[in-house]
Amino acid sequence: MGDGSAAFAFTPAVEAATAPIWEKLRVRVTPLEWRLHAPLIAEINRLKREKNAVILAHAYMTPEIFHGVGDFVGDSLGLAREAARCEASIIVQAGVHFMAETSKILSPDKTVLIPDLRAGCSLAASITAHDVRLIKQKYPGLPVVTYVNTTAEVKAETDICCTSSNAVQVVEEIARQFGVDKVILLPDEFLARNVARQTSVKIVAWQGRCEVHEQFTAEDIRELREAWPDATILAHPECPTEVIEAADFAGSTAAMSDYVMTRRPRQVVLITECSMADNIACEVPGTEFVRPCNLCPHMKRITLQNIYDSLVHGRFEVKVDPLVSERARASIQRMLDLPRPETPARYDLFKARHHVDVEMI
Ligand code: 13P
Ligand code: SF4
Repeated sequence: MGDGSAAFAFTPAVEAATAPIWEKLRVRVTPLEWRLHAPLIAEINRLKREKNAVILAHAYMTPEIFHGVGDFVGDSLGLAREAARCEASIIVQAGVHFMAETSKILSPDKTVLIPDLRAGCSLAASITAHDVRLIKQKYPGLPVVTYVNTTAEVKAETDICCTSSNAVQVVEEIARQFGVDKVILLPDEFLARNVARQTSVKIVAWQGRCEVHEQFTAEDIRELREAWPDATILAHPECPTEVIEAADFAGSTAAMSDYVMTRRPRQVVLITECSMADNIACEVPGTEFVRPCNLCPHMKRITLQNIYDSLVHGRFEVKVDPLVSERARASIQRMLDLPRPETPARYDLFKARHHVDVEMI
């Protein structure tokens, strides 16, 4: 086992302690893999109790992390809410760096750890605080909404944050509060285009892309429909607009998960990061998942082994400059103070209703 940690054995005690997790994971994890995962899962869960730590696990984590050691699981909005209210001393972020920063900003007195500092995000890397300052000079008086997939420095320059779960709601609310009909929405071009079709508020957009979702094409959807005519196709709003148009429904991580959990389609395709389908499949064994597999290389840097190392060695601690943190917190809090989005009732949230173009910066 890496990093000098002991090699834990798959003992009868480990097998008994982890049996309920195995029951859930057996649809996606082989018995051989389980013998490797179970001892680490048992040890991580013991360490969490010893150190008063919690693990916030994003839906793109692999199933042994998501179901095995995650105390709070979900999308970036759900995890941010948990970070703000959880009572543990240590938060281990099983996700990417911007999520750990968000947790630290919302819980400045807690120790926030990320198991691999290289777990970044192409959207967060696409824009700097300096870019935002220049954009504000170019569009004085317009509110700036930034996706949570940004650095703390970028959040500090903005009026309010949003996630894929609430982007339409946030854009409309901030336009109302500022008394304007145009909003700057950064940095995901495709999210901005998909939001623009859902609202009469005009959108100014930046050319950031999610390197995972931008790869899906309308041709992929056509091929999937030919091969799996009965499958329901759901897509994430970071996908290109023609993909959203070709899908049956479009919505955030939370909305897609909710759709499958409540409607239980016989066959489903999730046009998003691959682990999400694995994690839901563990909960709905009756649904067949067709998996066009695009993995996020940043999310995949987080493993059971480095979560274990993180807890043992208290690494890697995420810190945010207090002045930046205070300003970024105001943007995140403004978002969290909005009423919860109605995603369960609005599965078609990002489906195109009318054709409106965005203004590119
Ligand atoms: P969610 O806000 O849907 O959790 O998305 C985060 C993310 O990184 C999507 O690619
Ligand atoms: Fe960033 Fe895309 Fe990975 Fe999400 S899936 S963390 S948006 S690169």
